[in-house]
Amino acid sequence: MDENVRYITGIDVGSENVRAVVATIDRDGSVSVVGYNEGKNAGMQKGVVDTLSGPAEAIDKMLLEVERMSGFSINSAFVSINGSNVMSVQASGRIALGTPDHEITEADLERVEGATVLGKVPANREILDVLPLSYTLDGQSGIKDPLGMTGLLLEMNANVISALMPTAVNLRKSLDGGGITAEKLVPSVCAAATAVLTERQRENGVAVVDLGYATTGVAIYENGDLQYVGVIPVGANNITNDLAILLQVPTEIAEDIKRRFVTGLFKDDDKEIVVKKGRDELAFSRKEVNRVVRDRLDEIFEGVVNEIKLAGYAKKLPEGIVFVGGGSKMRDLDVYAKSVLQTATRIGLPTGFGGVADAIKTPDYACALGLALLAARTAPAPVHKTSKKSTSKKSGNKKEKLNFLSKLFGKF
Ligand SMILES: Nc1ncnc2c1ncn2[C@@H]1O[C@H](COP(=O)(O)OP(=O)(O)OP(=O)(O)O)[C@@H](O)[C@H]1O
Ligand SMILES: [Mg+2]
Repeated sequence: MDENVRYITGIDVGSENVRAVVATIDRDGSVSVVGYNEGKNAGMQKGVVDTLSGPAEAIDKMLLEVERMSGFSINSAFVSINGSNVMSVQASGRIALGTPDHEITEADLERVEGATVLGKVPANREILDVLPLSYTLDGQSGIKDPLGMTGLLLEMNANVISALMPTAVNLRKSLDGGGITAEKLVPSVCAAATAVLTERQRENGVAVVDLGYATTGVAIYENGDLQYVGVIPVGANNITNDLAILLQVPTEIAEDIKRRFVTGLFKDDDKEIVVKKGRDELAFSRKEVNRVVRDRLDEIFEGVVNEIKLAGYAKKLPEGIVFVGGGSKMRDLDVYAKSVLQTATRIGLPTGFGGVADAIKTPDYACALGLALLAARTAPAPVHKTSKKSTSKKSGNKKEKLNFLSKLFGKF
């Protein structure tokens, strides 16, 4: 066992699927994926846990293969949080620094962060992260990093990300049930953005849209920072359900039609779509199928446009929209999205890591990979290589240290 090996884990708890990625961090900070797996989830309602044992069992089962593949025992992870209760609000706060020669310290930054969030988030919400957008020191605005600077009055402008308290608490409980301590909860779409965006996109202005099973997340980045996050309670499974209702077939058949026959080019030829049901063959009008899928996609895209407007970024995203999530695996989805949304569109394929990861350079693994990348920026998990899973919890001290360091470096 190499004592210098540090490893981290990202777990994406989705409405339909759970996915995990384990990666090692080399001394130079590069991240190599050494294990991954996915499985069906249960007990989720539009991104939110509604039965604690559902995700606990699904994660436990799914992780067996990840642990076998990587040889690491997994008992803590960065974890995704989702649902329309996840939101961001911009806030500002100020503090006096005392004497004129006072140099700004970490403690001052913590204090101004406290002043910024004070009273900005209702008591029934948990703050997931406070992302500094800029600081103003004695009237000089636009400061990115005031640490060590001298001044009298420090003001912070930040993006405060929060979720409903029960959503966060129950997600952690469910993970606990599966023997996992959630070191940090990150909105799914923000985690995915970490794995698919370039620095240039984050600087210039871009939206990431996570088209999942039951939700569609929207995150907007500009000047290198997350500016907005919102989640719409509609996803790619609504397309499947619409097809099942219209074609009067079980959802498995509707899903099969969606995956094999629908493309974003929506060519209305007269060829019928033919699928097998037992020994029978069923035929459907391509035109009808296209119409149903297009209608639902239009509704989802309308929701996306609304979120972008709410964020104040309508027609202000030079780098366009990057799609992630399983729903973006629909063939030529980006082509249709471009025609409706009138902006550059692309499908986000995760990058930023090496290892055994070719099979997971897909838009539906972006979230789990992004969580691993975010975790890699924080303190390392303890070195403990074994093929036997341990569900032991971290000691209070270790956890405190990790939380402190995640706070410093794990911003998304
Ligand atoms: N090849 C494909 N073509 C079209 N749709 C696909 C394809 N593969 C997966 N999907 C769709 O992706 C969706 C699942 O996406 P994903 O795994 O990202 O969801 P999730 O993370 O479990 O859910 P959520 O993010 O909403 O909580 C399903 O609705 C499925 O139909
Ligand atoms: Mg998801």
